[in-house]
Amino acid sequence: MNVSEITTRPFEGQKPGTSGLRKKVDVFRQPHYLEDFVQAWFDTLEGYRGTTLVLGGDGRHYNRQAAQTILKMAAANGVGRVLVGQGALLSTPAASCVIRKHRAFGGFILSASHNPGGPDGDFGIKYNITNGGPAPEKYTEAAYQRTLGIDRYRTLDVPDVDLDTLGESRLGDMVVEIIDPVSDYVDLMAELFDFAALEKLVQSGVRVCFDAMHAITGPYARAILEDRLGAPAGSVINGVPLEDFGGGHPDPNLKHAHELVEIMYSDGAPALGAASDGDGDRNMILGDRFFVTPSDSLAVLAANATLIPGYRDGLAGVARSMPTSGAVDRVAKDMGLPCFETPTGWKFFGNLMDAGRATFCGEESFGTSSDHVREKDGLWAVLAWLNVLAARPGQSVADIVRAHWKRFGRNYYSRHDYEGLDTGAAEDLMDHLRATVPGLEGMSLEGYKVATGDDFAYTDPVDGSESVGQGVRVMFEDGSRIVYRLSGTGTEGATLRVYIERFEPNPARHGIETQEALADLIGIARGLAEIEARTGRADPTVIT
Ligand code: G1P
Ligand code: ZN
Repeated sequence: MNVSEITTRPFEGQKPGTSGLRKKVDVFRQPHYLEDFVQAWFDTLEGYRGTTLVLGGDGRHYNRQAAQTILKMAAANGVGRVLVGQGALLSTPAASCVIRKHRAFGGFILSASHNPGGPDGDFGIKYNITNGGPAPEKYTEAAYQRTLGIDRYRTLDVPDVDLDTLGESRLGDMVVEIIDPVSDYVDLMAELFDFAALEKLVQSGVRVCFDAMHAITGPYARAILEDRLGAPAGSVINGVPLEDFGGGHPDPNLKHAHELVEIMYSDGAPALGAASDGDGDRNMILGDRFFVTPSDSLAVLAANATLIPGYRDGLAGVARSMPTSGAVDRVAKDMGLPCFETPTGWKFFGNLMDAGRATFCGEESFGTSSDHVREKDGLWAVLAWLNVLAARPGQSVADIVRAHWKRFGRNYYSRHDYEGLDTGAAEDLMDHLRATVPGLEGMSLEGYKVATGDDFAYTDPVDGSESVGQGVRVMFEDGSRIVYRLSGTGTEGATLRVYIERFEPNPARHGIETQEALADLIGIARGLAEIEARTGRADPTVIT
């Protein structure tokens, strides 16, 4: 093997955020930048030599070049085999599925998730461990520490690999196996869901519209919805993955998935509308003129889990990230299920799922999944909803959610994002909240009495690891909440996220428009954080 040791120097800021390392494409393109980060993983992972790794990404700009770099470095660092999705493509949930199914040691996923792509957009990379889930903090921290002192990396001086032809080839002593990126994932979905019942539902005229937003899920959604379930061609829109996502912002929310929203809010809308993000782990669920909040989606799926064949025997427990609404907590209480509250980021669910303590997990940020993989899974959520529709004939998405609220009460919920803030101002704002919020206890704010205020800290019940500073919470006596945190995924300035929640038990008051229902709390949230005075922003950039 022609292994080259290349001399390098450390780059600043290679600290993985909420989900891997994300930077502008131009940053990743700098000579040695990606190489340093990848070598830091090889230098800190233990026991990977001779084992199998998985590699694939969401197909955004720089995906292919990065895959070539990583393959050569993997060979030079003694990896035995790499399973690569054809074209260097793999959705995040599919990568998790492939790692688990083929008992790989781990894998690199190339994605900046829902961040825009293209030459001026973002690129990203994350490492997933043997359970198929995102590397927990102790791994990401070790790799980051290594980047600070890195002075050389190993690579092979060989031509590029053919990423498009299925089958095996060699790169030095390492085997490269190009696999179909879709089939393992489709097989797993067929085990969990009753495809025959879904096919019948679709054949009976219940229409679905899935917006792949020109990102990775197009081929997966077509294979399942159109090819396997027989949904009419065109049920998947924007289904061709493009390197720049067609210039769009591949984030499945009411603002960015506007094409789907127009379809679902027009006459003759399909029964189920859904969208997924850049790398396929997020989902948005819509009914005919009806938006299901991700927090409600998790709660409804948990309440209906036994209608889905893969979960017929019930759930071991449920988990949600702290800022996610407490709707699922009410379901868990009613069903006698353990319910866990974790910091933001999917990596905190992995231990709970590995220990068999949580089956369904979710985040308010359009993430829902189960223990079939160790990532959130956009298409899984869509199929779960289809399965619930099939098992509750004659009921629409809106009927199902309204009946759920009637039974459990409604958690009015919204997230307000202030994007592109001055980093210093945003950090000062958080410091101000940390300093003042604990002192609010017992005070009454516009009729809302503060029960407690704190900065959320979490002790993992499985391995005892601790995570502090996970978001400032103001909790009111009636169960309402305001949560503030700064995003850990952005690449420009800072993003302040404000999460607002109010519980309404009375069904007669379940039909209020969300922003209206939360208006008082929104005012309190802005006032407490002095948002306008500190950031110059009167209104949020995105409301979900
Ligand atoms: C955001 C979401 C978080 C999610 C992450 C990765 O992180 O809020 O729930 O796990 O993206 O998709 P944030 O930017 O808030 O740190
Ligand atoms: Zn994503």
